[in-house]
Amino acid sequence: MAVTKPRREAREQQSAEVSEAQIAVHWQEEGYYSPPKKFVAQANLTDKGILKRFSLDRFPRYFEEFAALLDWYKKWDKTLDTSKPPFWRWFVGGRINACTNCVDRHLAKHRNKTAIHFVPEPESEAIQHVTYQELFVRVNEFAALLRDFCGLKAGDRATLHMPMVAELPITMLACARLGVIHSQVFSGFSGKACGDRVSDSESRVLITMDAYYRAGKLLDHKEKADIAVADAAKDGHKLDKVLVWQRHPGRYSSPTKLAEGRDFTVNDLLAKYRGKRVEPVRLPAEAPLFLMYTSGTTGRPKGCQHSIGGYLAYVTWTSKNIQDIHPEDVYWCMADIGWITGHSYIVYGPLALAASSVVFEGVPTHPDAGRPWRIAEELGVNIFHTSPTAIRALRKEGPDEPSKYNHRFKHMTTVGEPIEPAVWKWYHKVVGKGEAVIVDTWWQTENGGFLCSTVPAIHKMKPGSAGPGIPGIHPVIYDDDGKELRAGSGKAGNICIRNPWPGSFQTIWKDPNRFVQQYYARYCKNPKSKDWRDWPYMAGDGAVQAKDGYYRILGRIDDVINVAGHRLGTKEIESAALVVPEVVEAAVVPVADPIKGKVPDLYVSLKTGLKASEEIAKKISAAVVSEIGAIARPRQVIIVPDMPKTRSGKIMRRVLAAISNHQDPGDVSTLANPEVVDKIKELAR
Ligand code: WTA
Repeated sequence: MAVTKPRREAREQQSAEVSEAQIAVHWQEEGYYSPPKKFVAQANLTDKGILKRFSLDRFPRYFEEFAALLDWYKKWDKTLDTSKPPFWRWFVGGRINACTNCVDRHLAKHRNKTAIHFVPEPESEAIQHVTYQELFVRVNEFAALLRDFCGLKAGDRATLHMPMVAELPITMLACARLGVIHSQVFSGFSGKACGDRVSDSESRVLITMDAYYRAGKLLDHKEKADIAVADAAKDGHKLDKVLVWQRHPGRYSSPTKLAEGRDFTVNDLLAKYRGKRVEPVRLPAEAPLFLMYTSGTTGRPKGCQHSIGGYLAYVTWTSKNIQDIHPEDVYWCMADIGWITGHSYIVYGPLALAASSVVFEGVPTHPDAGRPWRIAEELGVNIFHTSPTAIRALRKEGPDEPSKYNHRFKHMTTVGEPIEPAVWKWYHKVVGKGEAVIVDTWWQTENGGFLCSTVPAIHKMKPGSAGPGIPGIHPVIYDDDGKELRAGSGKAGNICIRNPWPGSFQTIWKDPNRFVQQYYARYCKNPKSKDWRDWPYMAGDGAVQAKDGYYRILGRIDDVINVAGHRLGTKEIESAALVVPEVVEAAVVPVADPIKGKVPDLYVSLKTGLKASEEIAKKISAAVVSEIGAIARPRQVIIVPDMPKTRSGKIMRRVLAAISNHQDPGDVSTLANPEVVDKIKELAR
């Protein structure tokens, strides 16, 4: 694979447009908090020797400890194959099945234990406790249906567009049992976004649900499936079947009709498969387990392909040692399974360890900000995992709510965005009642599992800092010229990982070239080298490392905005705006938001002669929602007479970002049209 170094101009653009890093908050260094003694006394990982044992001179052998947590049909012959950089292959020659590791192997000891607590949003609806035995039965029956009714087999893809219900992990595990590659699309994404992912992954089957509850309403979800089918058809891709789960079994809850011969109600079909058992397929360790689409620098989302063996080993080890999950724990990660956090840390990691994992359907602040603490109290949740956005919202709406309930957390996680020290301290003192250890975990869809975090019983916590690389992960910060910053320099640069790790994605689906260019080209020391040391992984985040070795993540260095912990490409939103015929140019910039971290502002210019109106602005906003989903809805659509541009015609997003964030846009005299800046200032809020 040819590696081309990005041209200097492109590199400058990459750092000149670091809108997020530029406006990143630079918190001061905070003091340390020690892990509570009670936590340390019961923790899975307390041996400090691990830090030495997982040093680079013992790479890649130390990762065998990760794989040893799993059951293998056949042990691997080679821990790491580096013959085709940077397409690293882990545990080569091994044979494994992810489903049996998450289900079958627990039956002997934990048959009657709850695997999944499904908490419906309406409090009037009872919580469902799915035992490991029941999970086994339901996964097998659904796997039989996928195999015999849909004809799916190992290597085929199935797109899932499912809400947060027990049937989602059941569907994923049924796919995993057969070796079918699942591609779950976040339920909040539009039918159009789902359709794009169906055609990119060439899925013949779409699995969805009729409806689900969100903020007190039963939403029609099936309507999105019809849009997805039509959208995929536009790309020339035909879906054979749409399988529709019923939110209320036995009752169809959507006003949208089922298409004869194409749409099938799972709950009806399942009657035929009662009692069926499916022999799990003994798959190669490097066979793909799933695709997870995520936003990047171009308009098209990319399908990150994750393996079975390496991925499962990585999420299981990190769930055990960073999340400190024991089989007797009740663990609740409040993320959505439609994102990587949910795949790794609601489904695969916790279930591989025979924990009880909570799947919550609804909005945390609905009907009030006490809801999560009521759930935690009722289920005896002792490990809690969420995002800074959720913590900020719960703090704002119910600062004293946690004190009203008797939940007791031993461990809490934050993930997805930088967390402000003040918010961290509320989480620690009020939610955790000062008794819980906190880990701030930094990682990405591409990575499979945590990259930086403290080891909860070994390292002290420091609010606002993710911590060092987890055992086995060796980060490094490079400057824009490709020079390594000294360890602990306190200077900002681009964070990279020196070594490969088993949880990493294997490639971008159908786009290996982009995989190489985007993550490895910039800091590759020698494109011809077969030595992994020459191929640092570039994460795309700005970071600083303090003297104590802890990393503080500053934010994205590319055109990705982190809205409420969800990744959105500015280009994706811009292309959605351009679907509206009146629009000729669009530019999206991130704006700091007290709850969501960042929100998008959308600047557009219209065809000559057209006048700005509230109606057009609304139409543009609606287009973004229907192309991508409500999470991408712009804070405001600002129709400008012209975009601020350089003399070569490039839109100066930096100037727009400054205006939106009420900052000084700096010297604009070199622009081709400096006079437009004041006009735009008047238009933007
Ligand atoms: C950001 C989510 C600061 C970061 C698991 C990264 C964070 C992007 C943290 C990936 C954290 C994630 N502190 N920033 N603890 N965790 N990020 O792919 O910018 O949805 O690149 O994966 O979120 O988002 P993604």
